[in-house]
Amino acid sequence: MRWGLLAAGLVLAGCGGSASAVDFGEELFQEARLSESQFNRFSCSTCHASTPVPEGGRINAGYSLHNVASRLGWWGGNETRLLDAVNFCYVSFMRGVSPLEPEEPKSRALYEYLVSISPGPEAPALPFTVVKDIVEVPRADAGRGAEVYRLACQTCHGEPHTGKGRLTEAASVLPEVVNDYDQLFPGIPKPLVVIEKVRHGQFFHVGGNMPLYSREALSDEDLGALLAFLGL
Ligand code: HEC
Ligand code: HEC
Repeated sequence: MRWGLLAAGLVLAGCGGSASAVDFGEELFQEARLSESQFNRFSCSTCHASTPVPEGGRINAGYSLHNVASRLGWWGGNETRLLDAVNFCYVSFMRGVSPLEPEEPKSRALYEYLVSISPGPEAPALPFTVVKDIVEVPRADAGRGAEVYRLACQTCHGEPHTGKGRLTEAASVLPEVVNDYDQLFPGIPKPLVVIEKVRHGQFFHVGGNMPLYSREALSDEDLGALLAFLGL
């Protein structure tokens, strides 16, 4: 529970966890307004469940934050302070202009909420395996791929082919976005560009603000099914 001195002190002193702070924290978790950027449409709940198992079988890029405050490390152990783990998301994905400070009311409420959904005992950091080298994956069942699209991609990208219901206009229409890839990425097979986007998100010089999917978040088999569904 290494958030910042003040927030941690509050909880240890038993003054933390007031119902109103937890409620406010939960609202912030669910709403894009946590970020001051008018261009942000993401909330924490866009990418993280708060229940032990994501509802409706959703496939999120990020782990469920159930028990998050009980973990001893985050992002595969690369982050050792919870607030830094949160701020990485806040700045990279939610267009947060500057990181949340531990004593800010918003930040404290969010912390109280995360503690309130962490009833379990201390636990090691969860594994986080980033696929660095992008290679082809075997295609799998397109029917499963339709499910994977709905469970993993649709919240942000909307319906296939039209983008209907997408979270933000910035999210490309799938799979049509690949129609420009021959000009944009000459000589690179289109599926590889899509695999790279899913595995690297905005990182490794890809750009944008889509999250990356680790192996734990999305298996190669489900990715292969998704590509089959998208006709790639
Ligand atoms: C666009 C998607 C996205 C958004 C929005 C987002 N995150 Fe994340 N977050 C991720 C991904 C991907 C990871 C890396 C996988 C993981 O560790 O869960 C991650 C990791 C984390 C971790 C480390 C979890 C662990 O056990 O390793 C915490 C804590 C976290 N996020 C909190 C938050 C909070 C709080 C918010 C809202 C302020 C937020 N995130 C917003 C995608 C997102
Ligand atoms: C949290 C929201 C979010 C989720 C979930 C998400 N995406 Fe994205 N994706 C975006 C946004 C926003 C963009 C445009 C900005 C960017 O490139 O990062 C994008 C862009 C893309 C692009 C186009 C890259 C380019 O520039 O040509 C592809 C391909 C893509 N996403 C595939 C997927 C697939 C497949 C899934 C499901 C496994 C998925 N995305 C899940 C938000 C998301």
